Amino acid sequence: MEIFIAEHAGYCYGVKRAVDTAIKNLEKNSAKNIYSLGPLIHNDQAVEVLKEKGLKVIKEIADIESGVVIIRSHGVGKSIYDYAEENSISLVDATCPFVKKIQKIVYKMHKSGNNIIIIGDKDHPEIIGINGWCNNSAIIGKSISDFEEIRFNKEKYVVVVQTTMNFKIYEEIKKYLEGKIEDIDFNNTICLATQKRQSSSIELSKKVDAMIVVGGKHSSNTKKLADICMVNCDTYLIETVDDLEIEKISAYNSVGIAAGASTPDFIINEVIKKLSDI
Ligand code: F3S
Repeated sequence: MEIFIAEHAGYCYGVKRAVDTAIKNLEKNSAKNIYSLGPLIHNDQAVEVLKEKGLKVIKEIADIESGVVIIRSHGVGKSIYDYAEENSISLVDATCPFVKKIQKIVYKMHKSGNNIIIIGDKDHPEIIGINGWCNNSAIIGKSISDFEEIRFNKEKYVVVVQTTMNFKIYEEIKKYLEGKIEDIDFNNTICLATQKRQSSSIELSKKVDAMIVVGGKHSSNTKKLADICMVNCDTYLIETVDDLEIEKISAYNSVGIAAGASTPDFIINEVIKKLSDI
């Protein structure tokens, strides 16, 4: 059986950076209590590995009185930095630089009197964090219908976009808002990592008999990858090597492997090894 791996599979730059930062700090500060504010990544196996190294997960920063808190790649609002400073809690900031850039735009533009619009999912941690840089005053929506009820005034509006937003949907919303607001500035802050992972998976799924998509059960970007591969060939979504249906898979001559943004290399490598043994 021939095995191919999608050109862009697994951790994106920001997630890898956050995991590496956490590991480095866990090794350096083993005597201290180290926490992450929410699970560091959406992958149970990777979270388990970090837990074994000593990382504890907290829901709120107020849950602890001291220690080191790692900010994950999604980032957080300004109030968390303020709270940490007031309470002598050390922060290790692993916010993805692309998300940091959005936070800076929002902070600066809101301070200089602009209204902020965020195109994205209001319940996603990245968006909750970004909104925290304009006093939680942003107008947030992920589809045109979310903006239909809003009464826009004659003031100036500045738009930023969730890093994982679909480009086509962003373009549709942009067109709609341009028709409703006179004074509006758009910052296309979509990160290309998701797009690259999806297009390399689509490309591979057209060449092989079947695709194995590796990723966490709760990872929406992994599920999306499986959906787009399914259009071109038989596709199996697995969380770990144990989910591989060997009998079915061994019937194929060629198999491609794709993996979500929070899938660690060690899980991808275990799958490759098992497939090579067939
Ligand atoms: Fe950062 Fe893009 Fe990943 S914004 S966390 S590199 S998807």
